[in-house]
Amino acid sequence: MSNKEIDDLSGTETTGHEWDGIKELNTPLPRWWLWTFYGTVVFALGYTIAYPAWPLISSATPGVLGFSSRANLDADLAAAKAAQGGVIEKIAATPVAEIVKDDELNRFATAGGKSLFKVYCTQCHGTGAMGGVGYPNLNDDDWLWGGSIDQIYTTLTHGVRHEADADTRFNIMPNFGADGILTTEQIDQVAKQVASLSGVEGGAASPEGQQLFLDNCAACHGDAGQGNPDLGGPALSDRVWLYTGTLEGIKAQLVKPTHGVMPAWGVRLGDVAVKELAVYVHGLGGGQ
Ligand code: HEC
Ligand code: HEC
Repeated sequence: MSNKEIDDLSGTETTGHEWDGIKELNTPLPRWWLWTFYGTVVFALGYTIAYPAWPLISSATPGVLGFSSRANLDADLAAAKAAQGGVIEKIAATPVAEIVKDDELNRFATAGGKSLFKVYCTQCHGTGAMGGVGYPNLNDDDWLWGGSIDQIYTTLTHGVRHEADADTRFNIMPNFGADGILTTEQIDQVAKQVASLSGVEGGAASPEGQQLFLDNCAACHGDAGQGNPDLGGPALSDRVWLYTGTLEGIKAQLVKPTHGVMPAWGVRLGDVAVKELAVYVHGLGGGQ
C-alpha cells in the first residue's frame, strides 16, 4: 500500500516514510549520472568478454582479444635475451684488448664489470676500489703486475699466489733477515736507502745502501726502484705503498716479508665475467 505524496515545499515526491513529521524526499538521480552508470556497466561487461576475466576451475576465461600478460612477459624476456645474447657472444669471442676499442662492447662490458665488482671485489679492494693496507688501490696508475688491459686480464684470470692455479702470478720476496742474506746493519742501510727514494722519514741514501739495493733488490724492484711488473715487484720510488711505507714497515718487509694473495677468477666466474671485470678495472683511471 503506497501513501506517496508530493511535498508541498519542494514539489518533489516523498518515499512515504515519515518520522515525527519529518518526511523523506524521493529525489530522482540526475540523468547524466544515471547514463554514466549504465555506461560503466556496459563497459565492464564488454571488458570481461574482451580480456581474461571470469575465473574457471584451473584458469580463467581467455577473452576474445587473446591478451596474456605472461605471454607478453615471455616475449619481452626473449627479446631482451636475444639483444644481450648477441653482445655476450661477441665478448666471449673478442680478445679483451679489442673489447676496449669497440664502443658498444666497451660500454656493455664496463657496466657488467661494475656490478660484478660490487659482488666479488669490494670486500678486499673497497667500494671505490681504493684498496687498503695489503690490498692495492685499482684507481691509480701504480701497478704491481702491470696495468695494460692484457696484464690486468691475466692477473684476474689466474689470481696472485693462488696455489690451485698453475699459471697464477707468483713471486716471493726473500727473507733477508731470517735467512741470513743480509746482516742487521746491511738491512738498516738498504732500508734507509729505499726510504730515501720517496722521502720517507728516516731515509738516508748512501753508497753502501745503493750497492746493496742493486745487488739484492733491483732484480725485482728495478734499478732505480721503479718496480717490475713482470715479477710483481712494487715500485719503491713512488709514494704509493702496498704496506705501511714507514722506515719500520720497510725493515719489516725485509725480515718478515708479507705476500698478498688473490683468488683466481677465471675458473670461478668464467671468461666473459673476467673480461668484463678487466675492462671495468682498466677503465677506472689507471689503465695503461
Ligand atoms: C680476498 C681478497 C681479494 C679479493 C676478493 C679480490 N682481490 Fe684483487 N687483489 C687482492 C690482493 C691481496 C692483491 C695484491 C696481490 C699482490 O700483493 O701482488 C690483489 C691484486 C689485484 C689486482 C692487481 C693490481 C696490481 O697492482 O697489479 C687487480 C687488477 C685486482 N686485484 C682486481 C680484483 C678484482 C677485479 C676482484 C674481483 C673479481 C678482486 N681483485 C678481488 C685481494 C683480493
Ligand atoms: C725475488 C723478488 C724480490 C726481491 C729480490 C726483493 N723483493 Fe721486495 N718485494 C717483492 C714482491 C713480490 C713484493 C710485493 C709483495 C706483495 O705483493 O704482497 C715486495 C715488496 C717489497 C716492499 C713493500 C712495498 C710496499 O709497497 O709496501 C718493500 C719495502 C720491499 N719489497 C723492499 C725490498 C728490498 C729493500 C729488497 C732488497 C733488499 C727487496 N725488496 C728485494 C719481491 C722482491
